[in-house]
Amino acid sequence: MCGIFGCALLNGDNSGEVLYNSLKRLEYRGYDSAGQATIDAGKMIVAKGVGKIDEVNSSQGLSRMRGKIGIGHTRWATHGAPSKENAHPHLDCSGRIAVVHNGIIENFMELRNALQERGHVFRSRTDSEVIPHLIEDFMRRGKGFVEAVRLAAENLRGSFASAAICLDEPDKIVCIRMESPLILGIGTIGNFCSSDIPALLPYTNKVIPLEDGDLAIVDARGIKILDWRTGSALEREVLEVSWSPEVAMKSGFAHFMLKEIHEQPMAIRNVLRGQRIYYELAASMLKRASKIFLVACGTSYHACLFGSYAMANLAGLTAHPVIASEFEAQCKNLIDGKTSVLAISQSGETADTLNAVRAAKARGASIIGITNTMGSSLTRLSDVYIGQNSGPEVGVAATKTFTAQVVVLLKLAMELARSEGRRNGAVDSLAEELSGLPSKMEAVIRASEERVKGIALKYSAKGSFCFLARGVNVPTALEGRLKLLELSYLPALAYPAGESKHGFIAVVEEGYPVIFLAPRDSTRDRILGNMMEMKARGASIIALIEEGDEELKQLADDFVEMPPCANELLYPAIYVIPLQLFAYYVSTLKGYDPDMPRNLAKSVTVV
Ligand code: F6R
Repeated sequence: MCGIFGCALLNGDNSGEVLYNSLKRLEYRGYDSAGQATIDAGKMIVAKGVGKIDEVNSSQGLSRMRGKIGIGHTRWATHGAPSKENAHPHLDCSGRIAVVHNGIIENFMELRNALQERGHVFRSRTDSEVIPHLIEDFMRRGKGFVEAVRLAAENLRGSFASAAICLDEPDKIVCIRMESPLILGIGTIGNFCSSDIPALLPYTNKVIPLEDGDLAIVDARGIKILDWRTGSALEREVLEVSWSPEVAMKSGFAHFMLKEIHEQPMAIRNVLRGQRIYYELAASMLKRASKIFLVACGTSYHACLFGSYAMANLAGLTAHPVIASEFEAQCKNLIDGKTSVLAISQSGETADTLNAVRAAKARGASIIGITNTMGSSLTRLSDVYIGQNSGPEVGVAATKTFTAQVVVLLKLAMELARSEGRRNGAVDSLAEELSGLPSKMEAVIRASEERVKGIALKYSAKGSFCFLARGVNVPTALEGRLKLLELSYLPALAYPAGESKHGFIAVVEEGYPVIFLAPRDSTRDRILGNMMEMKARGASIIALIEEGDEELKQLADDFVEMPPCANELLYPAIYVIPLQLFAYYVSTLKGYDPDMPRNLAKSVTVV
């Protein structure tokens, strides 16, 4: 997730200052590098660099750039580490076209190879750089700037929100959109494009959110919108935004956490687009290993637990999940040159995880990292790493980054299964079902949010909760517990349901709330038995059940119906959503700030 801003000014030539101020408002979308391009006196001026916007401004003078028209970008690296070359804007070979892009171009390798064969020279390792070269290629073949952008859009596969400027038509910005947000702003000092509303608000509250397939031509006097698939003109409604800048930063949601819960379908679409080559590299390393450890802290450790189920079930591999801070004490004598450590860290900077990785590396283990932060310490320590592409997560509690980790691990387990020639039919049908996961997540959010809010209201005064599940749903139960515990400061519990008889059941008394994860899978009948045990002791049963499971509906005091999955390994990514929402609503009902729970930090860099 990156931030894009563009401006076409009527009178002033201070586009550098407008872009810089706007990029600062978009910094929450990414901040590993930044850059701007403006057209001044018939010349393309480009300035970019690594670091936060203010650092890049100090070294490159972003705010002093002149020109009536310009585009800017603040980056969250996906393809290519944070570096000056990989920072946007990217240029074509001639330096006459500049482009900023947010999203992932799935077919960039094939486009890049074809363009290189036609003589184009690439300067970065990004997928985005294919866009200016594609536009240039069509212009070399006699097309005008706008038509060349339209044809470029037709050739791109994946997600993109992109803005381009060109010396040949220096009065306009041409924008295209597919699956990544892009919003136009109609102002009095000129017109704008932005990947989010907050950056537009200082200039205008009149906005046009572009839709998939839209191409917009933005100049200082007006805006024209076409369908880039057909070339025909489109009318789009102008909306008046009444949000305060603070609410706008959260896209209208009350908290970043809620926004990030709602962003999960998009985050998973980005994971599904992740390049296969990284999974192949990681899988070939894991296949050669005689021992595999999955190492992480907190929520990322719950993803590890899921990963160990997925690898065992799909690929027949034993992968031991270990809490990072215990890794040395527990495993140091087991590590040798044939060991692989798969370390998972959203931030890539968690001290316990990095220490475990360093200890394993010192004993000759190979390291595979899964992280949301390119350029982090984990990427530097890893032999191979996979980016989870979730975009920055502002809420301290991990939400969208957890489901992204789960899906990365699932893809990796599928890659391992394929490379071992195991269960190809099952893996193929899982792959097909996985492609529908983002829509299923959207449906779950839509269908469950109000119901979960009601359940939160009914139970928020309880002093403790317990989450029970079996099989691959156990990591989800643990994650539901962690969310509730850290946001509501309640001593919540979670167990594999079978284990509940060996101690926890002593706690249960009249009205004690027990939350069951009860999909209609291989664990369902045993879960039913556990529900009866709890019910017999007076527990209040809150159950996540499969649509139409009448028997469980009868048994539960409250339930949330969930869609079915053919493959059990898909349950965690959808069953965690009502649990995240439950924690969020209990926290807000208690008057706490779910974005900043007390005593916690987003990245724990101390041991
Ligand atoms: C919980 C949470 C933490 C982190 C943990 C590891 O909501 O966010 O438990 O999961 O601190 O952080 P990373 O993944 O950055 O290593």
